[in-house]
Amino acid sequence: MKHLLVTGGAGFIGANFVHYWMKTYPQDVVVVLDALTYAGNFANLDSVSDLPTFKFYQGDISDTHLVENILREHRIDTLVHFAAESHVDRSISGPDAFIQTNIIGTHSLLKAVKKVWLDEGLHRETHRFHHVSTDEVYGTLEAEDPAFSETSQYAPNSPYSASKAASDHLVRAYHHTYGLQVTTSNCSNNYGPYHFPEKLIPLVITNILLNQPLPIYGDGRQIRDWLYVEDHARGIEQVIQKGQLGECYNIGGINEWANIDIVKLICDLMNCEFAENTSLATKYPQALSVIKGNAQELITFVQDRAGHDRRYAIDPKKSNNELGYQPLESFETGIYKTLQWYLNNDCWWRAVMDGSYRKWIAQQYRTAE
Ligand code: NAD
Ligand code: DAU
Repeated sequence: MKHLLVTGGAGFIGANFVHYWMKTYPQDVVVVLDALTYAGNFANLDSVSDLPTFKFYQGDISDTHLVENILREHRIDTLVHFAAESHVDRSISGPDAFIQTNIIGTHSLLKAVKKVWLDEGLHRETHRFHHVSTDEVYGTLEAEDPAFSETSQYAPNSPYSASKAASDHLVRAYHHTYGLQVTTSNCSNNYGPYHFPEKLIPLVITNILLNQPLPIYGDGRQIRDWLYVEDHARGIEQVIQKGQLGECYNIGGINEWANIDIVKLICDLMNCEFAENTSLATKYPQALSVIKGNAQELITFVQDRAGHDRRYAIDPKKSNNELGYQPLESFETGIYKTLQWYLNNDCWWRAVMDGSYRKWIAQQYRTAE
């Protein structure tokens, strides 16, 4: 039986991980520490919040005193670190929060676990700090380049990816220098339920339902490698259960898509959903383009993201071979589940989009010259 501390557990991937873990290991204690920034939402944890094995703390990972007390009080033996500023566009317009949370916050956590696990000796022999990182630390690929492997050189290009790269190095250093038992996973782009609608896939789905433009940065030919979020949770589970201490594992499902193709696919799937299910037009009367069967008319090319990475792709051989990891969801089934989730959970995304998010996003859209 494990006692987990999940940082950032009220965010997109963290919440999906908590759901997955509590369903798979109902006997384990799961404590979430989350600052509930704009991206964190306690509603993401509604379905588990009443379980006796679940506990939530609203707080900052940089609050070392709070983290140390949580580690002691709940006899935490496994920390899964999701908490981060995660949106590349926000890191371009305001990098400071990324340095604070992703670098200084991660270092505060490392200091806290070192003190409680190693110096005080709670779980000195068997503990785990699992760090959740990204493929963006490897920089960008050309069309013909091989996918990123664990030995690819770090070459981060945005303040977000640079801050994640720095946090990866700190985690590695605490293993090498102090013997902290760490693992790191570097995953490709996730999609699925509870994805904050500033990111491409949920933005496109919700904008179709609100009949808003679908902004495509630059020529739309940038490539991302998409993985269903529960498959990411399964990958982290495999690393925690079977990963070698001090090692990094790339997690991905070999599923590369150009942005414009994914946006057109979502438009076509939505057109079909509305054609097959006439009650959707009553539920979403604003969605005029998709009601007409022509969601693609909302596609709008806008100014490119500064420093936009052209292509990401994960080579998952190491996690396939050493951990036996394989994603379960195909893109076809994953994107269908995701569309259904957003169609059925408009209360969630309408609440999330309320307020400051809308004002911020309005400032970001500039029509291409
Ligand atoms: P998210 O932005 O949806 O959620 C981040 C969560 O962290 C939020 O709940 C937020 O409130 C919390 N948080 C932020 N600052 C905090 C602080 N100082 N103290 C405590 N909590 C804080 O992010 P996500 O998409 O769920 O990503 C989770 C992790 O996975 C991140 O580390 C990210 O780098 C990594 N990752 C994301 C993707 C992806 O496609 N989204 C892919 C690979 C890796
Ligand atoms: O690769 C993993 C990373 O994936 C994670 O580490 C990040 O936390 C996560 O946010 C994600 O980063 P991206 O920048 O790839 O995701 P985003 O959804 O912001 O953008 C996906 C692609 O779509 C990217 O090429 C930019 C483009 N895009 C995005 C938005 C929001 C558009 O063309 N228009 C948009 O409006």
